[in-house]
Amino acid sequence: MAIDILKDLNTEKLREVFLKYTGKAFEMLPKLENPSILDIGCGSGTPTIELAKLSDGEITGIDIDQAALDRFKLKIEKEDLSSRIKIFNLSIYNTDFSAESFNLIWDEGVLHILNIKKSLVECNRILKPNGFLVVGEVIKWISNNLKIFPKYGFNLIDKFFLPEECWWREYYLPMEIKIKDLRYKFKKSKELEKLKPYESEISMVKKNPKEFDAAFYIFQKVN
Ligand SMILES: C[S@@+](CC[C@H](N)C(=O)[O-])C[C@H]1O[C@@H](n2cnc3c(N)ncnc32)[C@H](O)[C@@H]1O
Repeated sequence: MAIDILKDLNTEKLREVFLKYTGKAFEMLPKLENPSILDIGCGSGTPTIELAKLSDGEITGIDIDQAALDRFKLKIEKEDLSSRIKIFNLSIYNTDFSAESFNLIWDEGVLHILNIKKSLVECNRILKPNGFLVVGEVIKWISNNLKIFPKYGFNLIDKFFLPEECWWREYYLPMEIKIKDLRYKFKKSKELEKLKPYESEISMVKKNPKEFDAAFYIFQKVN
């Protein structure tokens, strides 16, 4: 059988270790009855599926990576969540959702790669009055951008910090161990080349794990 080393590495499975923090951030919100939730940059949907499990609402995921959305579609079918989760290939810069569509907008690891001002204008437009914006990002990025949120109508109401060095301890260290096993198991396979970008990421985080300390910040739309 052909080797698919990235399937064996399965970073999506490793990523699930962070769902406990998704849950903690969600529980910090006031109780939302049947909320309409938008996950921006949902990728293959790891946090999005968790939001469906945590809430009794309707969840929408958007992303511009069609391959990730295709993987997400399969997961939605497998989990029998087609009636609760809808996904669209859309950019947060210009979604075609009606104004004031959502009670909650969720960001995990996306805003920092985007134009924050353009993203916040659209988030404000599509969020209902008093709706919530949850931002899960590296602390350094959030701190550097914190002053921008009120300018776009978002007040900080709560936050929590993930344990120190958790990206290293909970995600990259297990990935490093898994990669060592794969290198041993498939030595001489050309597939091993595909591990290189992951090894670069690992060494970047390993060198300075505190740089990747992360937090969830909860904002509310005030105007
Ligand atoms: C680091 S991944 C995070 C994925 C997911 N939120 C998670 O936590 O597993 C960033 C995602 O943002 C998506 N993205 C990049 N630009 C975007 C845009 N303009 N609008 C929506 N999503 C975007 C990427 O395709 C990618 O799936």
